[in-house]
Amino acid sequence: MRPELEEYKKSAQIEIQFVAHNLNDLYKMRNVYLSKNGLIAKLMGNIKNLNPDERKAYGQDLNELKTYLEDLFNNHIKILEKGELAKKLQSETIDLTLPGRSLDSAPQHPFHLIADEICRIFIGIGYIIAEGDEVEEDLYNFTLLNMPENHPARDMQDTFYISDSLLLRTHTSPVQARFMQKHKNEPLKMISPGKVFRRDDDDNTHSHQFGQVEGLVIGEGISFSHLKATLDLFAKQMFGPKREIRLRSSYFPFTEPSVEVDVSCHECNGKGCSTCKGSGWIEILGAGMVNPNVLTMNGYDAEKYTGFAFGVGIERVAMLRYGIDDMRRFYQNDIRFLKEFPKR
Ligand code: PHE
Repeated sequence: MRPELEEYKKSAQIEIQFVAHNLNDLYKMRNVYLSKNGLIAKLMGNIKNLNPDERKAYGQDLNELKTYLEDLFNNHIKILEKGELAKKLQSETIDLTLPGRSLDSAPQHPFHLIADEICRIFIGIGYIIAEGDEVEEDLYNFTLLNMPENHPARDMQDTFYISDSLLLRTHTSPVQARFMQKHKNEPLKMISPGKVFRRDDDDNTHSHQFGQVEGLVIGEGISFSHLKATLDLFAKQMFGPKREIRLRSSYFPFTEPSVEVDVSCHECNGKGCSTCKGSGWIEILGAGMVNPNVLTMNGYDAEKYTGFAFGVGIERVAMLRYGIDDMRRFYQNDIRFLKEFPKR
């Protein structure tokens, strides 16, 4: 190779060794020699100015120089890349022997403690859980539950409307209609826990948002005595073996007959105290036999099937179980309140 080209080999070696500190420097340097406008390209451009008989030999030398420089840079780039990777890996190693940071786990919220417990009781006697949406259609929340438009019972359950036909559900009962339609004319046993919403004035026993667990049983020969026995079992499991239930007649458009269910006061055992406001009984749920209209509207043969349904207020049960005086505490997120409950 002619000496002036030989010089470039040396200068590239020296630069790589003494001037390049990192990969970036190397890339820049490689460009100086090998890019489109780099040294080799320029020298190639000069070939046309040479005598025709010199061109071939000069071209061969240049190609040799080019290959030499390409190898030289690429090898060094590879070496540096390896080094930088190793450095990066080292700086990112995790010391597995360090003690972990402890997360302060909050105890479970009493709302969920009780919702889970209610579900567990019913799962234990063969119910399955159904899920429902908090945003519900007017159709399911009212109409298919025997409350057609302009039915006066709608007034008691005013709520937040999202559109003319969409609303925040006022009870978990729409899950009854949805579940019946899904199980068309087959026996079923389901419960469905969830949040419901109403335009209620907030006081210590009401909130615009609260929880319910809906229950629904349909089968051949299901009677009121099944409902009563089921609720009696629930009250005893939830509040203790000494608790009794009392049924008072009531009205819901989707059940007939309908009842409100009281449980004997756990504080005074029925004698009357401040917890039960002197009556000895505390109301915990609404229930009744599924209205045949509701069965028919949702795809069941009301001649063949009967059923019962109930709706338990979650906060209400939690207030009784834990002696909580004000329903609004469930939604205030006060850590001192939340820490009062058992950790699971
Ligand atoms: N959905 C009723 C309410 O919210 C409760 C209920 C459920 C009553 C099922 C009867 C049967 O008040």
